Amino acid sequence: MKASIFDRETEIRKRAEQAGQGHVFAWWAECSEAERASLLEQVDSIEFPLLESLVRDLVRNPHQEETVTLEPAPIIPIPVSDAQIKAKDLARERGHTLIREGKVAALVVAGGQGTRLGFDGPKGAFPIGPVSSKPLFAFFAEKLLAAQRRYGPAIPWYIMTSPANDSTTREFFEKNRFFGLVPQQVHFFVQGTMPAVDQEGKILLASKHEIARSPDGHGGTLRALERSGALDRMEAEGIQEISYFQVDNVLVRVPDPVFLGYHAEAGAEMSSKVVRKAYPEEKVGVIGMRGGKLGVIEYSDLSQEDMSARGPDGELKYWAGSIAIHMIRVSFLRRLQREGIQLPFHRADKKVPFVDADGRHIEPASPNGIKFECFIFDALRHAASAISQEVVRQEEFSPVKNATGVSSPATAQGALMEVYASWLEQAGVKVPRNESGALASRIEISPLYALDRAEAVQKIPPDLKITNDLLLTDGTTSP
Ligand code: UD1
Repeated sequence: MKASIFDRETEIRKRAEQAGQGHVFAWWAECSEAERASLLEQVDSIEFPLLESLVRDLVRNPHQEETVTLEPAPIIPIPVSDAQIKAKDLARERGHTLIREGKVAALVVAGGQGTRLGFDGPKGAFPIGPVSSKPLFAFFAEKLLAAQRRYGPAIPWYIMTSPANDSTTREFFEKNRFFGLVPQQVHFFVQGTMPAVDQEGKILLASKHEIARSPDGHGGTLRALERSGALDRMEAEGIQEISYFQVDNVLVRVPDPVFLGYHAEAGAEMSSKVVRKAYPEEKVGVIGMRGGKLGVIEYSDLSQEDMSARGPDGELKYWAGSIAIHMIRVSFLRRLQREGIQLPFHRADKKVPFVDADGRHIEPASPNGIKFECFIFDALRHAASAISQEVVRQEEFSPVKNATGVSSPATAQGALMEVYASWLEQAGVKVPRNESGALASRIEISPLYALDRAEAVQKIPPDLKITNDLLLTDGTTSP
């Protein structure tokens, strides 16, 4: 006879009760057979010992971060001297070789809920093309496609989704015929979730038969890569380096031979890109040395004093804003796993809809719940060697986080168009602008037309006239 989850009902209930979470069965009598089975499955998948330790350390006795001295980290600068330019050229060559040898995979974390953007669907489906309206995912796919055409081997693309957006993300790729990529090179893997708890550490119920759960943060990438078999696959395919980025940054260079080269030259296990912070309160983590270890200090954890501290040159002391672009060596992830190193969880206070003690569904107006998330950058402190490279913000970082205002679709499209305008201008094209210097028409250049400035300058005819919206494509893209 087929085993049923009900065979283990007593054991599952006992585990929940021993962990002080027996209330999750409060509405058992009202649940249908299918709902009961589903609830048992959900409770069964909870790692109670882990949850108990998080409730103890982050909810009941949240300890203040011990004060460790923060120091600026060494950063590879944007090259100015001949030696720096030479080092960059060497790095590029090294990166080209690794890509040509098929040793590089791309990985995007796309499991976030995109609440701030208020977009109904996976964030990668957001239409960002200033002229084409093509989605974020299409930009990344086309960059990979263009790089493959240039360097040879297919670049595997790993996409981390969450249970909430996994099927819609896959459907979106199917519908768009994988944006010209071969479906076999695109690997979706689903991140884990953690139960959300109330201020007392009690698990919240999303409905009478549903635990409120949320994605375990982008640090969940590590566990999800192992669990899904993706790490095994990478090793089997001879992948050495993972080019990691966030779904919200349309300007990302993926893969970037220069970054890859610096990272490989240094024998680094995990590396990061940074930009100069635009202003002290900018909501980006800063790369710094904490207790002698390289790390990202999240904006919310940076003291007011450190945030606005300035060096003798008048520049921000902690100017190196993390743009969440990393190079991660596959063998590093395997080592972390082998050594049983787990990333710490952080607490996030959020609004979590729940069922109250009277069975009413409540949509809270202010944060009532606590979610637990891991951050990928916490792996940095375990890297035997790590480098950080400064890059030009206007060329590589313009995230879409909010519906309007800073870091919104409007600012990202503006940044994209300015990149294209500078390519066109360097190619000798007159780009129409109004009196205030703003672009007079919308412009867009597909990565399939030109992957970078050098290719654009070489391809764009200097006598190109821009009289209306301009879209340069290679004409073979699917959507
Ligand atoms: C993040 C970084 C910040 C960095 C900034 C750059 C954190 C805590 N902070 O800020 O240091 O300067 O980006 O833009 O990450 N994601 C998942 N699963 C999850 C949670 C997030 O895949 O469970 C993905 C999202 O889809 C997104 C990315 O991670 O691609 C960033 O998440 P988000 O919560 O938007 O981070 P920020 O607070 O904006």
